[in-house]
Amino acid sequence: MSQTAAPRPRVLSGIQPDFSLHLGSYLGALRNWVRDQDRFENYFCIVDLHALTQHPDPERLRSLTLELAAMYIACGLDPERCEIFVQSHVPAHTQLCWILETLTPMGWLDRMTQFKARSQAQGRERINTGVFTYPVLQAADILLYDADFVPVGEDQRQHIELCRDLANRLNSQRGDVFKVPEALISKVGARVMGLDTPDEKMSKSIAAERAGHAVLLLDPPDVVRRKVARATTDNEPAVRNPAGAGVANLLEIYGALHEVSAAAALEVFEGKSYSVLKSAVAEAIVDALTPIQARYAGIRADEERLTSVLAESAARVHLVADATLRRVQEAVGLR
Ligand code: TRP
Repeated sequence: MSQTAAPRPRVLSGIQPDFSLHLGSYLGALRNWVRDQDRFENYFCIVDLHALTQHPDPERLRSLTLELAAMYIACGLDPERCEIFVQSHVPAHTQLCWILETLTPMGWLDRMTQFKARSQAQGRERINTGVFTYPVLQAADILLYDADFVPVGEDQRQHIELCRDLANRLNSQRGDVFKVPEALISKVGARVMGLDTPDEKMSKSIAAERAGHAVLLLDPPDVVRRKVARATTDNEPAVRNPAGAGVANLLEIYGALHEVSAAAALEVFEGKSYSVLKSAVAEAIVDALTPIQARYAGIRADEERLTSVLAESAARVHLVADATLRRVQEAVGLR
């Protein structure tokens, strides 16, 4: 990694390799990571251990892990400036997770809204305990690297708060063991809603069930055009101000891709038909995805290079993670 005189603040974030990336993850997260990569010291993880809580098919997990790594790079994260690594390649994540679990009251985890939603859906008797302790593993991911900031979406705020609570808890018992990180919830990133559910954020789990929910970063142009053409709107004859939720979402996407506000996008399209808006949005998406897909294909054509990027990064971050783990082990009496 390149070195400059003044140390830059460190960021760490991660995405689960549980489904192909969609436009919402790109415009809401990845694109900001890419833009900010010179401001920070960058740690980007592919959190395959978290994905295990969903019991993926083993081959699919392996292939989605490589896909996501290649996609990080194709979207513009530069392996020369960013650590790009797979969580399970660094054993310290699970090692620290156990120690943190012993410091985590059940009540804290019981209050996590993501766990509550998933346990309501699956039933508390049957849901695996990995879903319950998921935020503790996430805290380990962050604390191992002394991250200053954690760039995430609003839905992860509660998990970052839990991470901070855990760090403060051990720090207050045993002196300054952990750096206490802060969530970095970007205001510039777009909040993209589902094409078929404009009142709900675009989500990987819904996209896995309904193709029309999301544009995937690997969708070919004709698929992009078809999905956008079928996006939910309303029965108005033309774009009006204020726009309904579906139209507002299309304007948000258009604005994000053309680097203008949704309000400015509305001015462009006010009075125009929905089909004019939809084809402009589809073309903007195709234009953005075309170079990403070309880079992606190049990266996947050289699997050896990709796996060595991941291995080299894991070897470097392993040293950082182990130093933190050792500090924690000493603090709790394990060494
Ligand atoms: N829980 C995060 C999500 O679903 C993924 C994640 C795992 C993560 N470990 C992390 C995000 C560490 C930030 C930092 O989006």
